[in-house]
Amino acid sequence: MNLAPSAPSMTLWSYESASGSIAVGSKDSPFHIGLICVRETPNIATSGEFIMGVNKNAPNIARIAEDFGIQMIAIHGRTRAQKYNGDAEYDTVKKIVELVSIPVIANGDITTAEKAKKVLDFTGADGVMLGRATQGNPWLVGQVNKYLSTGKNSQPPKLEKKISLILKHIRQIHEFYGNKMGTQLSRKHIFWYSIHLDQKKGTAFWPSINRVSDHSEQYFKFHDFLYSL
Ligand SMILES: Cc1cc2nc3c(=O)[nH]c(=O)nc-3n(C[C@H](O)[C@H](O)[C@H](O)COP(=O)(O)O)c2cc1C
Repeated sequence: MNLAPSAPSMTLWSYESASGSIAVGSKDSPFHIGLICVRETPNIATSGEFIMGVNKNAPNIARIAEDFGIQMIAIHGRTRAQKYNGDAEYDTVKKIVELVSIPVIANGDITTAEKAKKVLDFTGADGVMLGRATQGNPWLVGQVNKYLSTGKNSQPPKLEKKISLILKHIRQIHEFYGNKMGTQLSRKHIFWYSIHLDQKKGTAFWPSINRVSDHSEQYFKFHDFLYSL
């Protein structure tokens, strides 16, 4: 459940222009209504994600969520006002870990395997959640996992292997969502993959594919770009 992320468009209970991170304050807020739904459906496993709140009131929110039966929470270490700016902080995550008994997942600015370990050691959290660092680079998840379980660094796949996985991903998006929506939904992944593989060439390539509306044209343009790297 999107308990209180920073963007109105993301929160489950967003209304008017207020996002969940504002709405948590009042007793009849969408936040509370959502939690009542959690309480009334104890047979459904529920986890929640939220940010530090408006003024780092996340520990209170975490306690309320736990009392209502949420079984796991992920905390993004930024306040609503920060949006995605500034550095994420982990002191509040640590406080929450000490305060609640349910598993806590630390999130925000985790970009490498070493950073994941550092954040886990500092906060005592049960896990980490990776966000933007995986955009165009899903291999990071495996690298973090390997490092946390063995202490060893691992290499991402070679370019050729990456390309074949990337193209398979795009094909599967087209198949799963259908040609029209699949083409729209592929755009962000094409952008992220292109930038990840070569920032300069990816930036130059983007305007030529950004508005393509035919799935086949999109696929083959991207295919040719990837094999030109
Ligand atoms: C493109 C994008 C989409 C996101 N969608 C959601 C979402 O649907 N629900 C949510 O709770 N958070 C969402 N987030 C927030 C992330 O889950 C995460 O909390 C945030 O990006 C901070 O982690 P990071 O610094 O590792 O990116 C989104 C973030 C991005 C960049």
